Amino acid sequence: MAVFDSVVDAIGNTPIVKLKRFAAPLEHNLWAKLEFLNPGGSVKDRIAKNMIAQAERDGRLKPGGWIVEATAGNTGIGLAMVAALKGYKLICIVSQKVSKDKVRLLERLGAEVIVSPTGKKVGDPDHFMSIAKRLSDERGAWFVDQFFNPDNAQVHYEVTGPEIWEQTEGKVDAIVAGAGTGGTLSGAGKFLKEKKPSVQVILADPVGSILADLFDDVTTMPGQYVVEGIGQDFLPGNFHQKVVDAAFRVSDDESVQAAYDLMKLEGIFGGSSSGCIAAAAAAYCKQLDGKGKNVLAILPDGGRGYMSTIYDDTWMDEKFPGKDFG
Ligand SMILES: Cc1ncc(COP(=O)(O)O)c(C=O)c1O
Repeated sequence: MAVFDSVVDAIGNTPIVKLKRFAAPLEHNLWAKLEFLNPGGSVKDRIAKNMIAQAERDGRLKPGGWIVEATAGNTGIGLAMVAALKGYKLICIVSQKVSKDKVRLLERLGAEVIVSPTGKKVGDPDHFMSIAKRLSDERGAWFVDQFFNPDNAQVHYEVTGPEIWEQTEGKVDAIVAGAGTGGTLSGAGKFLKEKKPSVQVILADPVGSILADLFDDVTTMPGQYVVEGIGQDFLPGNFHQKVVDAAFRVSDDESVQAAYDLMKLEGIFGGSSSGCIAAAAAAYCKQLDGKGKNVLAILPDGGRGYMSTIYDDTWMDEKFPGKDFG
């Protein structure tokens, strides 16, 4: 399909490319699905489109109505894009950690942005999800609730998983993704396992997140990390533990190094979570027996959202003093 009725119809069908130089030499084939080539710049366009469509269908969202969401930025950008097209009003609650680039883009797209403090636990009235819930009650708005809304994982089950299956002609052996809400991993993973039960579903988790603890006997004290959008200090409803086979913990240093390497060695300009996921995918390939398996890293967003963070020298000097990532 070369032309589309609207930008929303151009979501999905992102390319898969082979990584030939990143982490080479590897005994297995490492592939990357470039989700930053969605029109809003991330994998989250997929869920924004579906969650809005379902809410319209069952009347939770009325014409011209208000939408409220707690977001690390990308879901907000996807929602803002769809809202602009369809005439909805959007409020996004983002934590202080979210890059200024993403906040500015949200505002440009017409969203009202409220910045909430970092380090608040789920249930705390100042946690970004509590603020979103409260605001939606006050304004009679629809609270999207990507962490628990089943229409998130469902679109990855109905669309992302089948897309990967068709693009790889069923030859995919493992997928590697991060989990912010868990939607990508749970939905695409479930579909691919139903098609081919041997498919391995691998979580890339930043050090400081508690999600990897579900797959070994380590207990993590939730901590701060630089990588945005993935890792959690609670268990989101869209993270379906039974779909996931194993987890790889990735430090900030490794994530940033992998993001820089993707750029230098492959010409792929990814965000911090793409670095984390690529690093985990390479680590998985290195411990996988045999030869020639097809391992697919799902890269959630691109580097332009991080020009004021991991791609800014001053910011990097502050966060990683004395380090040179090349
Ligand atoms: C930058 C980034 N990467 C990855 C993800 C994770 O995707 P998912 O919510 O499907 O687990 C998110 C979303 O939270 C994100 O913002």
